[in-house]
Amino acid sequence: MAKSGQHGGNVLQMAHKFGVDPRMVLDFSANINPMGLPDSLKSALIENIDCLEHYPDIDYTELNQSLAQHVGCQTEWVLPGNGATELIFLWVHYFRPKTALLVEPSFGEYRRALERYECQIQSFDLKEQSGFTLDESLLDALSADLDCLFLCTPNNPTGLMPSRSLLEAVIDKCRALHIALFIDESFIDFLPNHRGCSKLLDGNPHLYVLRSMTKFYAMPGLRLGYLLSSNQLLLDTIREQREPWTINAFAALSAQVVLSDDDYTEATHSWLGEQQAYLYQALSEFSTLEVFKPSANYLFFKLNIADFDLQSALMKQQILIRHCANYPGLNQQFYRVAIKSEVDNKRLIEALKECLPNG
Ligand SMILES: Cc1ncc(COP(=O)(O)O)c(C=O)c1O
Repeated sequence: MAKSGQHGGNVLQMAHKFGVDPRMVLDFSANINPMGLPDSLKSALIENIDCLEHYPDIDYTELNQSLAQHVGCQTEWVLPGNGATELIFLWVHYFRPKTALLVEPSFGEYRRALERYECQIQSFDLKEQSGFTLDESLLDALSADLDCLFLCTPNNPTGLMPSRSLLEAVIDKCRALHIALFIDESFIDFLPNHRGCSKLLDGNPHLYVLRSMTKFYAMPGLRLGYLLSSNQLLLDTIREQREPWTINAFAALSAQVVLSDDDYTEATHSWLGEQQAYLYQALSEFSTLEVFKPSANYLFFKLNIADFDLQSALMKQQILIRHCANYPGLNQQFYRVAIKSEVDNKRLIEALKECLPNG
């Protein structure tokens, strides 16, 4: 079981630990769109409550079609999952890499999935001195003895997005060396005009693109993610052998509804455009914080005071932030906060002024 400190969003456990009422905690630790579940989805769930009386379509035909249409790829290239997390574990289970390269710090579930199958894991360390930026040196680290490479774009927790040219060079080099490339785009919908890598699937069967509906559509409890690849052989094997009905009927109907909700997408981009700039600026004004430029709906920063537990200090004000001490390559001085509503972001800044020395 995942330990409670491994992810953001553990409000209950953290409130218990700090002796505060969980209902009073303002959660900056989970990177969920503060606009909440789209109204279009709420109505659709209520209208379709009766669908819970039936098993979902075992082939998820309509769901696959909606997702394929959204990304503009063939329906056969789509594999939906019970959250993106299920697909990380499914992919590792069926691909069974013996050697893997992880760019770290990054999302911890790649490592957990690989360790389950005793894969030999190498780490490509992002360097603090270069602002945790991914650069061409990754290309030199790719060698034919690797079975796979995991990349998170934009990266969690650093929030950085590699350049398009670097991504394309990595895809080309992985193809040449027969390295499977697993790119996690769980946060990419937050980047307006993003292209992602789904348009590069054709002719690149070594490429696997992971998407999640959790963050952008604020539906972590519904559980829906999808994997895209033109490696039909592997996808067919997974389809044939996986457990049936792992995606519930509500999740299955949600894609069609939310993906056509353009108002929600526009409103989200407009909120984020404003609040990302505000929070980045406001945090950067603290002399004790080193803030990394964000690309998505969260901010990553370093507290330049040793031995100061900022998470505990903020919990005293009923604000929960994510400490990043359990990420490889980071320590207790690194933190990540979600970008929330204007009111909540201002409350975070006020709380920081109170608890940081020389705030
Ligand atoms: C980078 C990244 N990928 C995947 C996931 C898992 O998302 P899901 O809720 O769809 O399983 C997360 C969740 O935090 C994440 O940060």
